[in-house]
Amino acid sequence: MCADCNTMAKAIGVLTSGGDAPGMNAAVRAVTRFALNKGIKVYGIRRGYNGLINGDIFEMGARDVSGIIQRGGTILRTARCPEFRTEEGIAKGAEQCNKLGMDGIVVIGGDGSFRGAADLSRHGIKCIGIPGTIDNDIACTEYTIGYDTAMNTAMEMIDKLRDTAASHDRCSVVEVMGRRAGYIALNVGIAVGAEACLVLEENYDLDEIAKSMLATREHGKTHFIIVVAEGIGSSDVIAREIQEKTQIESRVTILGHIQRGGSPTLRDRVIATEMGYYAVELLADDKANRVVGLKDGKIYDVDIQEALSMTKEFPKKRYDILYNTAF
Ligand code: ADP
Ligand code: F6P
Repeated sequence: MCADCNTMAKAIGVLTSGGDAPGMNAAVRAVTRFALNKGIKVYGIRRGYNGLINGDIFEMGARDVSGIIQRGGTILRTARCPEFRTEEGIAKGAEQCNKLGMDGIVVIGGDGSFRGAADLSRHGIKCIGIPGTIDNDIACTEYTIGYDTAMNTAMEMIDKLRDTAASHDRCSVVEVMGRRAGYIALNVGIAVGAEACLVLEENYDLDEIAKSMLATREHGKTHFIIVVAEGIGSSDVIAREIQEKTQIESRVTILGHIQRGGSPTLRDRVIATEMGYYAVELLADDKANRVVGLKDGKIYDVDIQEALSMTKEFPKKRYDILYNTAF
């Protein structure tokens, strides 16, 4: 809180942490421009909590965020910073904030990043989290920045895989990202018309899947797509088992980090901008220790600890829809 007014932050920082996600730049841009327009000084912090600890911090002007809304990755860079899990690391970060007169920080990242933000809040720095991860695995929000772009990238890649699977009468087993969450796999599975989708959240039966594949081959289906969430483990093993059970030649593709790159979609740019704007509004209102999220399609905010204790339901109905429209 500043000395000569009761509420408004005088200077804030912005950082991106954890895995990068398309749309992070749009959030950084919105935070920077809106804060500057409100007369708040803005500092960019490089490489997440690493930059905070080491003082890799620079003052940002409106032009520093020019031409970035359409760019993937994060211009601030990102990192995973084990040191910030220690009291010493957190204290160092708080010290840097105090040195620069930074009373608030917008942290764009996942759950781990929010834990760091909660720790920093305990040291009197007002932190606001914005959910940025392609995985959509943050419980307090229906949407995380980067999710839409990643799914569209995966969908386009699998459409290409279908061409070659169809030409060879093969089964294409495709592993998508998501850490332990199956949201990307499920939606992409529906979007590409996959015959099966394997996720940790739901039980699956490879014998049943193989049986359905063989039965529908009798009725003219010539090739198959199986989407596997990375949390399942080895897609190589899945492909081998499918081939053994069906005698249908199978190939594995792990889409990997390609899903994290590329220009953000309209949805990611707009939501990132809205969330960035909202985060600055919260700081300007002297709010602290909050996460911005999307609930019933509207931007809202929630206490960080409460956010971290929430659980997210897996859309079982959508999973059933995939299987009931696959064959
Ligand atoms: P990702 O899922 O892509 O790794 P996260 O936002 O979960 O994204 O990033 C985790 C990072 O958050 C850690 O590497 C670390 O830098 C930072 N972090 C700070 N404090 C904590 C904490 N208490 N627990 C976990 N991660 C933390
Ligand atoms: O959290 C984003 C994510 O891309 C996950 O989907 C994936 O499991 C992980 O990060 C990969 O992390 P890394 O960048 O360390 O390979």
